[in-house]
Amino acid sequence: MDSAGLRELLTFYADAGVDEPLLDEAPDRFQETRAEAEKRAAQRQQPTPQKPVATTQPRSTAAAAVRAAVPDDAQAARAREIARSAESLDALRDMLSNFDGCNLKTTAKNTVFADGNPQASVMFVGEAPGRDEDIQGLPFVGRSGKLLDRMLAAIGLDRTSVYISNVIPWRPPGNRDPSPLETEICRPFIERHIELVAPKVLVTLGNPSTKLLLNTQTGIMRMRGNWAMHNTPSGLDIPTMPTLHPAYLLRNPAHKKLAWQDFLQIKLKLESAG
Ligand code: URA
Repeated sequence: MDSAGLRELLTFYADAGVDEPLLDEAPDRFQETRAEAEKRAAQRQQPTPQKPVATTQPRSTAAAAVRAAVPDDAQAARAREIARSAESLDALRDMLSNFDGCNLKTTAKNTVFADGNPQASVMFVGEAPGRDEDIQGLPFVGRSGKLLDRMLAAIGLDRTSVYISNVIPWRPPGNRDPSPLETEICRPFIERHIELVAPKVLVTLGNPSTKLLLNTQTGIMRMRGNWAMHNTPSGLDIPTMPTLHPAYLLRNPAHKKLAWQDFLQIKLKLESAG
C-alpha cells in the first residue's frame, strides 16, 4: 500500500475510534493461516480469569495494554480503601495517578483529574475524558468543553469560578461506554473528590454521572431541572442539579433551551447560597 493509501486507512481507523495500538507489531490477518485463526478463536473461548492480572509494568510499550488489570470487585474494594484515605486533593490526585487497578488506565495517555477552581461554590461532573481531554490531561477541553464554557459564560461563570471533573478519569478506548465494573472502581475516587471540594452546589452532566451520584436508575430527561441531593459517604448532603450533557446538546441543539432553564436555576441557587 502506498503512503496515501496508508494515510487514508489510518484516518478511517481514527474516525472509527481505533486510535490506540494494542501490540508493538501489527498482525497481518490476511497472512494468517487457518490453524492460527482457529487457535486465536479457541483462546477467545477461554474463561476470563477471576483474579486481576494487575500489571506493575509502567505504560512504556503499547503491549502493556494487553496485560491490563482485569477489573473485579477486589479492585473496587481497594479503590474504596485508597480513596477514603486521601486527606487532600493533591493526595487524591497522586493516589489516582498511582492506582493500577483499572484497565482503562493502560490505554489512556493521561489521568484526567480536574480543572478550574477547587474553592469554587459549584462543581460540575461529566462522564469520562474524550480524545482531546486525554491528550491535554484536562476535562472538557474538546468540542463539548467549548460548549460548556459558553453555557457557563451565559450565567456569568468561567473556569476560575467553577470546578470540573469526571466520574471516570481515564479515556475509555475509542470513547466506548465504561463498563459497570470500571465505573464501580472509579466511583470511590469521584465521591472522595466531591467530598474534599465540598461545593455548595453540584451539577451532574448527563446520564452516567447523574445515575451514579444521585443513586438513581431514572433517566436524565426525567431527572434534569429538578434539585436532588448527593449524599457523600461521610454524610455531607450537597444540592445537585442534573442537566443535559454538552455532547448531547451538540447532537440535539433544540434541547439547549432545557439546559438553559437548568443553568438559570443553578445561577439562582448560587446567588441565594451567597
Ligand atoms: N465528556 C465528558 O463527559 N467529559 C469530558 O471531560 C469530555 C467530554
